[in-house]
Amino acid sequence: MRLLVTGGAGFIGSNFVRFALANHPDWEIVNLDKLTYAGNLANLTDVAHHPRYAFVRGDIADRDLVARLFQEHRFDAVVNFAAESHVDRSILDAAPFIETNVKGVQVLLEAARELGVRKFVQVSTDEVYGSLGPDDPPFTEESPLRPNSPYAASKAAADLLCRAYHRTHGVPVIITRSSNNYGPYQFPEKLIPLMITNALEDKPLPVYGDGRNVRDWLYVEDNCRAIALVVAKGTPGEVYNIGAGEERENIEVVRAILRLLGKPDSLITFVQDRPGHDRRYALDTAKIRREIGWEPSVSFAEGLERTVRWYLANRPWWEEVKSGAYRRYADEWYGRLGLPVG
Ligand code: NAD
Ligand code: DAU
Repeated sequence: MRLLVTGGAGFIGSNFVRFALANHPDWEIVNLDKLTYAGNLANLTDVAHHPRYAFVRGDIADRDLVARLFQEHRFDAVVNFAAESHVDRSILDAAPFIETNVKGVQVLLEAARELGVRKFVQVSTDEVYGSLGPDDPPFTEESPLRPNSPYAASKAAADLLCRAYHRTHGVPVIITRSSNNYGPYQFPEKLIPLMITNALEDKPLPVYGDGRNVRDWLYVEDNCRAIALVVAKGTPGEVYNIGAGEERENIEVVRAILRLLGKPDSLITFVQDRPGHDRRYALDTAKIRREIGWEPSVSFAEGLERTVRWYLANRPWWEEVKSGAYRRYADEWYGRLGLPVG
């Protein structure tokens, strides 16, 4: 099985590449990643020379490059993680979100239509469903799409393109919509790694609004296992929600991190709320449990402890990210191959 994994140098993608190489001995992986600020080859140093793995630096929105890769490798499956993924950045500037999350997906779909694949997995998000009230039932795969941030709108647009390419052109697209992931190698702009690393540096922990927004936390390895199962067993044309049912208020998460690190609550600073801030996400995951046989294996308490331990043990990794020094991996790569990607 030859897989094109896009965005494999990011948080979930790098965990997926590692998981897939370890658990699927018949999978060969080409990782296409642009190495934006969120892509870091230090996330993959342990597998960089693996015989069933190759890295290509490039943009999923680059039609010629994508067509060339499809022709050269004759992929059996595509797993598209590549995206601009941070809501706050999409509020400041939505343009790169449209370029990668919408146009990039269309370019991948077009290549899959022209050259054919057996499975095309689009990694989407629960944010496409919008926000829930405190007593609303969790979102099912049938819930309407009501995105509230430019990020969520760009992911919803991609989901609709995927649906259309399946219905019109028969591209075997499967969409996964997962809740908030956390775990090793997450870029410290997202809630959990930002709070862990700020606390370790005795810096303020900025909590938006009243801190009572609710997210449903999923350990990244459980998501990777779910996506790998969807590659193997998912039905084209279907959507699968992936979540652990571990709903927590942000303030609870932040306090739990401080307790694990033995740091004081006085580091918490309430700051201005995110515009359009979704109040609550929760997912009904009966479908993937019933049809694919997946269920989460790591509780939030266990996953958070593992994550805190990882950031404690990998201080050079996040210090390089926070200082910007990690960009040298992308610069070195550029220098070596002279690829036309900025
Ligand atoms: P991330 O920001 O950590 O990584 C994104 C990766 O994509 C980076 O390596 C980046 O270099 C690469 N990339 C960006 N633009 C590209 C382009 N044009 N061409 C090629 N590569 C490009 O993101 P993540 O948190 O790992 O999320 C991965 C996917 O999962 C995204 O599609 C996101 O929408 C989705 N998702 C994330 C979460 C979460 O909690 N992190 C939850 C649900 C869904
Ligand atoms: O739900 C899935 C989504 O989860 C993914 O699709 C996105 O790619 C991913 O970024 C994530 O989006 P969120 O907006 O939920 O994640 P973030 O870590 O940015 O924020 C989580 C919650 O914490 C949210 O309610 C905002 C709040 N927050 C976040 C940051 C960065 C703070 O209170 N302070 C902060 O500094």
